Amino acid sequence: MMGYLWLTWAFKLGPPPCAAARVTVDAYGFSIPQAWESYEEAMNEYGVVLNRRSMKWSKLLQGKAPIEKNLTVKRYVRKGIPNEHRSTIWMVSSGAQEQLQSHPGFYQSLLAMEHDPKLEEVIHIDMHRTFPDNVLFQSSVEPSQRTALYNVLLAYGHHNKAVGYCQGMNFIAGYLLIITKDEEKSFWLMDALIGRILPDYYSPAMLGLKTDQEVLGDLVKAKAPAVGQLMTQFPGIWTLVVSRWFICLYIDVLPVETVLRIWDCLFYEGSKVLFRVALTLIRHNQPEILMARSLMDVCECFKSITKGPFTQDCHHFMQKIFAEPGSLSMATITKMRESCRQRIIMEETR
Ligand SMILES: *[C@@H]1O[C@H](CO)[C@@H](O)[C@H](O)[C@H]1NC(C)=O
Repeated sequence: MMGYLWLTWAFKLGPPPCAAARVTVDAYGFSIPQAWESYEEAMNEYGVVLNRRSMKWSKLLQGKAPIEKNLTVKRYVRKGIPNEHRSTIWMVSSGAQEQLQSHPGFYQSLLAMEHDPKLEEVIHIDMHRTFPDNVLFQSSVEPSQRTALYNVLLAYGHHNKAVGYCQGMNFIAGYLLIITKDEEKSFWLMDALIGRILPDYYSPAMLGLKTDQEVLGDLVKAKAPAVGQLMTQFPGIWTLVVSRWFICLYIDVLPVETVLRIWDCLFYEGSKVLFRVALTLIRHNQPEILMARSLMDVCECFKSITKGPFTQDCHHFMQKIFAEPGSLSMATITKMRESCRQRIIMEETR
């Protein structure tokens, strides 16, 4: 419990009393990148936004449970869910809450069943690779989130045998545990993401992931034609530069607070937001990308555009993703997914 108390303190009170000491761990237990020198300043500024949002949310949620989905709530979600409401809103808006309530004891029964040793082994291998820089996941810390992480992944692998376990899922379960602090909720949120919200990113064939990379390629051709043109010179490039963005849902790609803001929309509105983020990063950095002369240049560039002030200022970044790429209807995405999927299947069977 100590860990959480300390983190709550770090989050609520901002800089420690001894002002000379630099805060090295963020509100979620991650160490703050050395390069981000203005971190505290940025968080103090963002704290003002958060306080305002927090008051508005409290008013919105007053006495009204369960929340309904409507335009007001959607607007609120896009402006950010305060951390104290995040778990609840994710649960309700994704349908995870409903699943949890209609399947009492299901999670525990998955853990109680006989475990598949192959599954256990692959999950085990990734344990020490999951957030080694996060204090909550270090094995020396009590209680370590590692046990919870292991349980959630094991239960999910048994529940969804077609997927089992795939790298990337450890990061996702880890974030869910950090926010919900609850294994069962994390399990059902995982189920909402992998079973409903995302097309199949994690099944062995990863057809949904391949499809979305193609869709992004087509969207870039339409919305940033010069970059689209450049990328056609390098076949297979989209897999190299964006598969990690999609599989990890921007974890370890973008700053923590920015990822959480994206996930607010992911749970409420669906997977479309992943394209908005990618398109915004690409459009905003067009001049840099267009200077690339080789495959290596492009890869380096796509790594560097996820860093720096533009993505660190999460509130501004989120405003950008809803303006910069222009209109992007779910109907369009669905159509593009269908045709890209056909294209991939045809190419693979040729
Ligand atoms: C939208 O839903 C919220 C939460 O349930 C509620 O407080 C609000 O009055 C609703 N707004 C409209 C316009 O229906």
